Amino acid sequence: MSTPFKLVRVPSLKTVTDFRAHLQSLNLDLKLDDEIAQGDASPLVKKANWRGRTIGNRWAIHPMEGWDGTTSGGVTEPMIRRWHRFGESGAKMIWGGEAMAVRPDGRANMNQLIINRENQAGIAQLRETLLAAHKEKFGTTDDLIIGFQLTHSGRFCRPHDKKRWESRIAYRHPILDAKFNVTSDDQILTDDDLKCLVEAYIEAAKIAADIGADFVDIKHCHGYLLHEFLGAHTRPGAYGGSFENRTRLIREIAAGIRAVAPKLGLGVRLSAFDFVPFKPNPELSQPAKPGPGMPEDFSHLLPYRYQFGINPNNPLEYDLTETKLLLKLFSDLGIDLVNLSAGSPYYNPHIQRPAAYPPSDGYQPHEDPLISVTRQINVVAELKAAFPELLFVGSGYSYLQEYLPHVAQYYLRNGHVDIVGLGRMVLSYPHMLADATTNGKLSEPKLICRTFSDCTTAPRNGLRSGCYPLDDYYKTFEDAPQLKAVKSGKVP
Ligand SMILES: Cc1cc2nc3c(=O)[nH]c(=O)nc-3n(C[C@H](O)[C@H](O)[C@H](O)COP(=O)(O)O)c2cc1C
Repeated sequence: MSTPFKLVRVPSLKTVTDFRAHLQSLNLDLKLDDEIAQGDASPLVKKANWRGRTIGNRWAIHPMEGWDGTTSGGVTEPMIRRWHRFGESGAKMIWGGEAMAVRPDGRANMNQLIINRENQAGIAQLRETLLAAHKEKFGTTDDLIIGFQLTHSGRFCRPHDKKRWESRIAYRHPILDAKFNVTSDDQILTDDDLKCLVEAYIEAAKIAADIGADFVDIKHCHGYLLHEFLGAHTRPGAYGGSFENRTRLIREIAAGIRAVAPKLGLGVRLSAFDFVPFKPNPELSQPAKPGPGMPEDFSHLLPYRYQFGINPNNPLEYDLTETKLLLKLFSDLGIDLVNLSAGSPYYNPHIQRPAAYPPSDGYQPHEDPLISVTRQINVVAELKAAFPELLFVGSGYSYLQEYLPHVAQYYLRNGHVDIVGLGRMVLSYPHMLADATTNGKLSEPKLICRTFSDCTTAPRNGLRSGCYPLDDYYKTFEDAPQLKAVKSGKVP
């Protein structure tokens, strides 16, 4: 029987020297500055240029949905508050805001925002709230760019019932089908279905442009539909098999958007690589207490022809060959904003959002989460070196905790990433990098995200997302008692 891995927690590493020594003990190639730089000395406040526009600094807010819209995909008070805080963060790039479904059946949950004419005024209000909050604190929004994230959740659709998957898929997957209750070929979207889907993306982008978005993110990450199509090696027909076929959708969507909204910028959030799905080790799991992660058995599936950016001979390793072909295609299509992520929160969360404490549907760390942080950062550096003309946003930084600014500075200064994105950290400490760059230190260490994963555990149990441990608003939120009950095992 294997022994559980014992995690060294980041807050126990009191100095940069301790943190470096720990990285060295793990044999990790992750670099960082000794001090947090202040003011103009910080690479975080250096301006960037994009299509003749100035982006006022080098940190972005990643899309962070809250599972808190109305059931018709409209805007609510907690959502407005979240966008307000995004504006107050000081970030000069808002990547996506949050996932917005291009049609009702493509929602990941029944409370996901839908970008349609009915909700247009509400989404415009989110944007205006963000701009006003930013302007009040930072004086100008001329150097702030905002994109909307357009999505169809594909295999992970639950548009009507919090507990019922209504998956629409690109191809049958030998591991994920069983995990997420895909039982019939009828769930595969046909080539004709895809023609309507392309139209839905184009219409959504037109609405985004009418609202005043600077760009749209044609989301290709985290196992959602367009990401799944990139790995549709086994799908017959015009949208599967060859690389050309698997990228037909992005070419059609990009061309369609260009025709209706020529001035709208185009970006893609991409899972640059993937691993085989993981599960809690059954030998080390107890009821309501998942054990450490381990890969699902893939020995009978070699060469592995599922998913994207993965080594077919060893799907526990990434392979960037096709990722590079895709970035070349983006460059040719004028998609010049790329936000790199990895894997999926549903089937291998440790590579996507490294955490000390897993969400309720996850698994305990089986290795130091810094391994996954380092992997994401170094993949971005490799791809940035290969495609200097693209503007890259990096992900997965929140687990770095107090050392986030030190690492961000190093990779920005050395041109290994253009903009550092903040995900979970923005829910607890939205102004972290404004604070760091203004004061040369983190003045509110109590707000540092410790990756407790309540923001994921809540929605996995039908509740609204938020930072329940550290954000006062959520400490007393209506859903807080129920989350507590779920975590203590009192709710099945
Ligand atoms: C509560 C929550 C909501 C999220 N919502 C989205 C989303 O709408 N779209 C998206 O692309 N990623 C989403 N993500 C992923 C984050 O954008 C980000 O990639 C991830 O948290 C890793 O970055 P971090 O280490 O800074 O948290 C979400 C993550 C969390 C925890």
